[in-house]
Amino acid sequence: MLHGKRILLIISGGIAAYKSLELVRRLRERGAAVRCVVTRGGAQFITPLSLAALSEDKVYTELFSLTDEAEMGHIQLSRDADLLLVAPATADLLAKMTHGQADDLASTVLLATDKDVMVAPAMNMRMWEHPATQDNLRTLQARGVRVVGPEEGDMACGEYGLGRLAEPDDIAAAVSDFFQTSAPLSGRHALVTSGPTHEPIDPVRYIANRSSGRQGHAIAAALARRGATTTLVSGPTNLPDPPGVNVVRVESARDILAACEAALPVDVAICAAAVADWRVARAANEKLKKNGGGPPKLEMAENPDILASLAAPANTRPGLVIGFAAETELVIENARAKREHKGCDWILANDVSPKTGTFGGEENTIHLVSAEGVEDWPRMSKTAVANRLADRVAEMQEILE
Ligand code: C5P
Repeated sequence: MLHGKRILLIISGGIAAYKSLELVRRLRERGAAVRCVVTRGGAQFITPLSLAALSEDKVYTELFSLTDEAEMGHIQLSRDADLLLVAPATADLLAKMTHGQADDLASTVLLATDKDVMVAPAMNMRMWEHPATQDNLRTLQARGVRVVGPEEGDMACGEYGLGRLAEPDDIAAAVSDFFQTSAPLSGRHALVTSGPTHEPIDPVRYIANRSSGRQGHAIAAALARRGATTTLVSGPTNLPDPPGVNVVRVESARDILAACEAALPVDVAICAAAVADWRVARAANEKLKKNGGGPPKLEMAENPDILASLAAPANTRPGLVIGFAAETELVIENARAKREHKGCDWILANDVSPKTGTFGGEENTIHLVSAEGVEDWPRMSKTAVANRLADRVAEMQEILE
């Protein structure tokens, strides 16, 4: 459930801190990697040594520690996790988070992070009910911070009421739910092809096309953001690797096919690469010379069709196979025909006539052609196309099974 997820567990000072040991175990049982930060107060209740033993990782305590900063700076610490979980979260730490105070490692990490944050408050019931705490909590929730607990029950201070830390099992379940909803493709494997191909003529020349790779790269990023383990097989592009994606850089159509086959099995394959239909049958080993004999005659051979081969019936056929159809005329008709003869499930058809600026550009107008019919999407950025497609893929859970 939490396989491959990295949780940064921040433990602040309260008697409930003893439950964080149990929490580390519950999270790890679900497959998460847990790294701990303990505040000075937290370390009064549990020892960093027990946390290190249970998390099997270094425990971070000090902001101004030369060794800690050298090994893993506080910014890196805050970015290196998929979720920051504060448990227990004291009234004091919640107040610091609300006001952006950063005077120790825990509060600095929480201010520096670009990741989602979940808090499990624990405190005396009067502190919990105090308008200051409730105001802080509302502010944090409005900023997207998720809250689990507290629960009602006997308190360490002898009172009874709302303020007990949620049970470790319930906190771990809330973490799983968080990933389930924010990462609907968690546990799925996705394969995306992107970019043009370079088909060599000789060691220095090649045949290519105007594909930028923007659409395919954006799709890989969108799938990865939704939790899919994503492999992007890309022809030569100038684009940076999308974050969290395993990128395989190749050149020719045959390279793409080999890299795709190596990535199988996957649950969904999306072919957005503009693969050359033909290659030079026998690329010269040496640079071709202009030696008076006239221009060389290039004999062409047909390239493998990657989309068709991924979509062909086989044990390794992905549950969902999606292709693109870049057309300059009869866009929908051609896309329908392509869906049939390639054997894929969906074709995203787009008009790439020079007047549209789609090829190599920032925007795209898509028609999604499936067995159910045609869906026309409005013109939007390639990133928006990628997000919409990834959401549609996430809706197909039964087919991905
Ligand atoms: O046949 P056509 O190239 O128009 O088909 C477009 C779709 O097929 C795209 O999804 C493209 O990525 C894919 N394709 C492929 N391998 C080829 C040619 C096209 O995967 N050799």
